[in-house]
Amino acid sequence: MPASIVVGTQWGDEGKGKATDYLADRMDLVVRYQGGNNAGHTILAEGRTLKLQLIPSGILYPHITSVIADGVVVDPRVLLEEMDGLEAIGIDPSRLVVSGNCHMIMPYHLEVEKVTERFLGKNALGTTKRGIGPAYGDKAARIGLRIQDLFDEKILREKLDIVLKEKNLLLTRVYGRLPLAAGTIVDDYLRYAERLRSHVADTSKLIHEALREGRSVLLEGAQGTMLDLDKGTYPFVTSSNPVTGYALASAGIGPREVDRVIGITKAYVTRVGAGPFPTEDHGPDGERLGERGKEFGTVTGRKRRCGWFDAVILRYAARLNGLSELFVTKLDVLSGFRTLKVCTAYRADGETFDDFPPHQSLFHRAEPVYEELEGWDEDLTQARSFGDLPAAARVYLDRISELAGVPISVVSVGPDREQSLARDAAGATG
Ligand code: IMP
Repeated sequence: MPASIVVGTQWGDEGKGKATDYLADRMDLVVRYQGGNNAGHTILAEGRTLKLQLIPSGILYPHITSVIADGVVVDPRVLLEEMDGLEAIGIDPSRLVVSGNCHMIMPYHLEVEKVTERFLGKNALGTTKRGIGPAYGDKAARIGLRIQDLFDEKILREKLDIVLKEKNLLLTRVYGRLPLAAGTIVDDYLRYAERLRSHVADTSKLIHEALREGRSVLLEGAQGTMLDLDKGTYPFVTSSNPVTGYALASAGIGPREVDRVIGITKAYVTRVGAGPFPTEDHGPDGERLGERGKEFGTVTGRKRRCGWFDAVILRYAARLNGLSELFVTKLDVLSGFRTLKVCTAYRADGETFDDFPPHQSLFHRAEPVYEELEGWDEDLTQARSFGDLPAAARVYLDRISELAGVPISVVSVGPDREQSLARDAAGATG
């Protein structure tokens, strides 16, 4: 059975959790492949709300094995808190499997990020301050500590001593902070180790065997294509690779195992943190999108910047990820606008760009070229099929699909499961 990938096509917060939830019935393994507790989704279970940042939402389904693959950076304290939170609402976290190759977020990563973001002043990236960048930095510098290090106390102490010497010099001499004590960190992490031991496994082997046995595997990315370290709006990006190419590296499978690549695209665009955003609307329309769409970050609670649909970045995401289909979320939020703007190209320095511009300065200066489509007044939240959507909404979807060159397979009009409308087999939107 081939694997599927779910990937965000914008700057994150596209509603990937919704898509995973929609596909969950048909999945046996759900694998998170990058990022850390900078991502987040809210789940509703047993009448209670729970925010998950690390554990894939597949954990809600007893038939699904949830996997955290090598490319994720894990803060073990946060992971254990999430497991406790699940238990508290009656969800058994024992089907969670974590790769021993995952790098860990350590207390000094949080400290270092705090001071370096402050140091950047007005050039700060507006990170989620969860230690993500410093942890991936240490991974690349080959001084990271991995989950597997937890199970050899001697190694753990040795590696920590080496790295902490340098981190403490940085914290005390450069940033004037207090040093961190190795003993406290080791005590805490050894305690985490005991609780995590039964969850740690060779996840690449597990995924490979599942595929061989004909089971369905869903690889779930965090953040979105435009936050990709290589392909996004660098330096205003995260420190990992949400693009689908990395899903394979992290899961440890080859490209021939994947046959479905689902690009999650919100019906408008949002962004949290600093960085260019050509279709951002600073006026009442942007406000209205934010209010109707409840656009506040799951992790930091920050207000998201809102703007119009950008087909240039969607085309770029389609190319980078090899999208086979689109899952459009939050279409209901667009009800009540007289007209809807769709960005089809950018203008910068007297030139028109149909594609993502090749230099970051051009993207910073990019002015959107808009096409206006008719809006609709109808409330879409009660729609249960494409045929229930007003004609203007179907035209809007068709135009998005045409501009991206990718068919739409599902559209969602609200948070509940039955508010995901599958396009019929004939491919008609109405
Ligand atoms: P970091 O991932 O915490 O290093 O933050 C880097 C940038 O990515 C910041 O602009 C964050 O706001 C953004 N970011 C990280 N995770 C998410 C996410 O899940 N959704 C949206 N933006 C995110």
